Amino acid sequence: MNVLVIGMGYVGTTTGLVLCEQGHKVIGLDIDKNKINSLNDGKLYFYEKGLDELLISHLNRENITFTTESMDAIQSSDIIFICVGTPKNEDGKADLQYVREVAMLIGRYINNYKLIVIKSTVPVGTAETVTNIIMENNRDHIPFDVVSNPEFLREGNALSDATNPDRIVIGSSNMEAAKMVSELFTKMTAPIVMTTSKTAELVKYASNSFLALKISFINELSTLCDRMNIDIDEISMGMGLDHRIGPYFLKAGLGYGGSCFPKDVDALLTTSKEYGVNLSILEQVVSINESKPLYFIEKVSRTLGELKNKRIAVLGLAFKSGTDDTRESPSLRIIEYLLNAQSIVRVHDPVVTTSMKEVEQFTNVIDTVRDVDAVLICTDWEEYKQLDWSKVKEVVKQPFVFDGRNILNKDELTKVGIHYYGIGKP
Ligand code: UGA
Repeated sequence: MNVLVIGMGYVGTTTGLVLCEQGHKVIGLDIDKNKINSLNDGKLYFYEKGLDELLISHLNRENITFTTESMDAIQSSDIIFICVGTPKNEDGKADLQYVREVAMLIGRYINNYKLIVIKSTVPVGTAETVTNIIMENNRDHIPFDVVSNPEFLREGNALSDATNPDRIVIGSSNMEAAKMVSELFTKMTAPIVMTTSKTAELVKYASNSFLALKISFINELSTLCDRMNIDIDEISMGMGLDHRIGPYFLKAGLGYGGSCFPKDVDALLTTSKEYGVNLSILEQVVSINESKPLYFIEKVSRTLGELKNKRIAVLGLAFKSGTDDTRESPSLRIIEYLLNAQSIVRVHDPVVTTSMKEVEQFTNVIDTVRDVDAVLICTDWEEYKQLDWSKVKEVVKQPFVFDGRNILNKDELTKVGIHYYGIGKP
């Protein structure tokens, strides 16, 4: 099959390369020339482990090419995946501008039957909107089908999630078209859910919102654990062993960030209100999440006293480990609070370089923590787990470590003379 993937973000680039792995010829299309040039040169413009090797391998075998020329790309393909971004609008809704533009281009340039697959996270009813836009622009009434196929991969695990998904959800009003999409994934063993487009679209929002709910639940419980001197990680373990609950997404921390959960929970809330239903449970999920960075800072200031002129090391800028993405990263909120309190902020991240002028960034953790009054762990990078904390103890001014991700072992840090404060830890 000749497959076109439109939108070369995390989802589009990964989808394109995984389709190459399944034996298809792929064209990647994007309006951003810099992204396209970089991909054609075999360079990923974002950090995602394992994807760069795959990119080079498929470029060398001529299984994939990247272009900004939409007409040629659309006309030479049988199947078109829409993977463009759907960022949050001011009113909380998903912005469908890019999806609409792509639909218009497909309608304008369609030259023979096309199977159009929507992978972008889109509000319920978007498959219908896309169908209508293509029809309006499709003067010669060339046949096409639109199928919804939401993506569930995580940044930092993109490749393994995309090649070993838990399920494949395919929604369409035309079962033949849905079947054609399922045939693209015959090498995968995941169960396939065949349903309507609207259901597929809602499954995606429901999944992300439920995962966000699990995180907010455990984070709120961690506040109770703080007061009760109980270890939240032991609670998570005890709960997670019940297979009805499961151990995943029960790690207490600084709250969820990234480009998906915050946007998708808001979008589902907004949609539900449009239908006259108030999903108040999700309002709580959002408000608990928003409270976590400040709660963490309050913990720091209870120990350090006034934060003005205190030197603070913030370890980690990315919203989670395995990515260079800082969108909605709790770390940035924490830095903002520290700067407002006039602290002197020193930062480190193994892959992110900040453009913030008010902070000093170091490439080495020991240089970052030299002479500081406190060390704040804000991203769960492996590098911080592996640190020699006795070396940290030697160079800091005051040995206070606040672990916003519960990745360190309190006993080991205490042994070398560090005062350790976790989230929901005795
Ligand atoms: C999320 C979903 O997990 C994917 O299934 C989905 O495809 C994707 O959004 C999307 O819609 O595109 P992602 O945002 O890449 O993926 O990252 P996650 O691994 O889900 O983490 C989200 C946030 O939750 C991070 O800030 C992470 O630190 C936090 N988190 C996660 C916790 O605080 N505790 C946990 O136990 C798990």
